[in-house]
Amino acid sequence: MSCHLLIPAAGSGKRMGADRNKLLLPLLGKPILQWTLEAAIASEAIAWIGVMAQPADYKDFQAIFNNIEPPKPIRLIQGGTTRQASVFNGLLTLPPDCSHVLIHDGARCLATPDLFDRCDVALQKMQGFIAAVPVKDTIKVVDGLTIIDTPNRDQLWAAQTPQGFQADLIKNAHLTAQELGWEVTDDAALLEKVGLAVQIVMGEETNLKVTTHQDLAIAEFILKQRQIQIDE
Ligand code: C5P
Repeated sequence: MSCHLLIPAAGSGKRMGADRNKLLLPLLGKPILQWTLEAAIASEAIAWIGVMAQPADYKDFQAIFNNIEPPKPIRLIQGGTTRQASVFNGLLTLPPDCSHVLIHDGARCLATPDLFDRCDVALQKMQGFIAAVPVKDTIKVVDGLTIIDTPNRDQLWAAQTPQGFQADLIKNAHLTAQELGWEVTDDAALLEKVGLAVQIVMGEETNLKVTTHQDLAIAEFILKQRQIQIDE
């Protein structure tokens, strides 16, 4: 066990039309965040977990931690107003002995322990990587409603989390972003913007991010299928 994991979980349920953090919504009888945490805990590679949260959710998150009775340290860290700000707060809270960090969205509740383990192996070799899968659709670049480009699909991958980095590199990239006012939707983009190479680790087709009620229904279906496979 070697790896530190940060879980941004300080969003809201706004895009889902929920009146609370979507990570507290039930999925097969457990809050979404609990599924994410259980997979991370089952990964032998992960030794320490920091969860970025809004203070209004501390009580509910703590109740989830108590349910799980985690065999490794889990810390609550105050989130920010954007995902980027939440991750920055998490990075500042890493223990001083942390040289490498994984970052994984709380909303990707179907990531498997095997994916975390493979990411830990990648972390030993790479300064920065993201889990990603090749895209299946043809992707169009659009201005208004007019297509302005059709990039070669062979070069397109859909970004997921976990993303992993040497801790000092990603901290410095976040600091530069703060100074220069960069706003991005994933952490790899910051390393890319400061000119550092980021590589790909094969992600999982089922590693979806719960954003809509359809995603929740698909997540439920996938989890039931996994249970059937275990029972067979
Ligand atoms: O909204 P979206 O699902 O894209 O957010 C990705 C992840 O970032 C979620 O797990 C969410 O809880 C987290 N987040 C955060 N702080 C924010 C906004 C989002 O930690 N201010």
